[in-house]
Amino acid sequence: PYPDLAPRPPMGWNNWSYYMCNVNEKVVLDNARALVRSGLARKGYRTVTVDDCWMGRQRGPKGELVPDRAKFPHGMAYLGEQLHRMGLRFGIYEDVGTLTCEKYPGSLGHFREDAALFARWKVDYVKADGCNVPVPQGHTKEQTYRDLYGQMSAALRATGRPITFSVSAPAYFQFDGDSVWHRVIGWSAELGNLWRGGRDVALQQSTPAAKWASIVYNFRYNANLAGLQRPGRWNDPDFLLAGDTGLTRDEMQSQMSLWAMMAAPLISSTDVGALSPAAREVLGNERIIAVDQDELGVQGDIVQQDGSSAVLTKPLKNGDRAIALFNSGDTPRTLSVTAGAAGLPDASAYHLHDLVTGHRRLSDGDIVAPDVPPHGTVLYRVTPE
Ligand code: GLA
Ligand code: GLA
Repeated sequence: PYPDLAPRPPMGWNNWSYYMCNVNEKVVLDNARALVRSGLARKGYRTVTVDDCWMGRQRGPKGELVPDRAKFPHGMAYLGEQLHRMGLRFGIYEDVGTLTCEKYPGSLGHFREDAALFARWKVDYVKADGCNVPVPQGHTKEQTYRDLYGQMSAALRATGRPITFSVSAPAYFQFDGDSVWHRVIGWSAELGNLWRGGRDVALQQSTPAAKWASIVYNFRYNANLAGLQRPGRWNDPDFLLAGDTGLTRDEMQSQMSLWAMMAAPLISSTDVGALSPAAREVLGNERIIAVDQDELGVQGDIVQQDGSSAVLTKPLKNGDRAIALFNSGDTPRTLSVTAGAAGLPDASAYHLHDLVTGHRRLSDGDIVAPDVPPHGTVLYRVTPE
């Protein structure tokens, strides 16, 4: 398998869902500085990834990838150097096909030289998308993707530089039937450290309702992939949308809490310098980050659900359990789960630490979250007495 370069779910920032192709050196470095200034970098948000549209439309005279000079006037090695000086890591986007999703040059036929170039630029993280993959006659789509991602994976390894590898292959098989989809996730977990399982979360220009719907959608499919993740090999249900997005505080908080329960990568896509105090608190909640980054590295499971709620439980290294009670409905609801169903051992009482409010209380039986607001999630860290 690909080297174990992500012992914990990766954390950082990516421009895509907020800026899309309006990415440039200033946007990236302004956000990087804001990560440092806000304290989010210190809390773990350190991998800064430049997504699609950083390149020129054509390769250079020697076949090399060239940055768009209007967007990145000092080039990519300079960008990486600035990020490293701030104590951050440098991530970059490519595609295993002929063209990226936005039709910039893809890596197909250039894997070795592109990987070597990224290593020279001191790139620490590569996200490889899977748009525009031609399937040769007589080959299956799956064989083709497996071969191309295999080539990219081998090329990154061959550089000798530790480059965390994010594989997008499964996103292109989400609707090809679960057995194929799950098999693709299986080999993606051998070729890289994390993988996109499915659809993109909604872009900045979408309505708040569409953003919320995309969060619930990605939560639902990703929660069902728990069995395919293992420590160091992570399901990636896409970006955290907390920020200037029109989402309510409860909605931002739910995404953060549910992603942490799933040990998902925490990759913010927003204007970090313009975060509201509420959004900064949501992203920066260290009690919840600790659930995400917990050393056991287990993706939480749904143990109870109905049409408008779900309860998840996640074992933690010190013997505690994280328990999330999610109200996806439009009216407040009291949610509860028995200790047994939540995977807790028998005990005379349970200490409940509400990781959002910080409040602590004692329960002698069921785990109850009173009046969970619409689209809200209560997240407890539970210690048996
Ligand atoms: C795909 C990916 C997104 C983003 C865009 C860029 O849609 O899933 O995360 O990288 O391509 O074009
Ligand atoms: C869209 C999404 C990609 C991927 C593909 C799958 O293009 O943006 O992330 O999920 O669909 O077909």
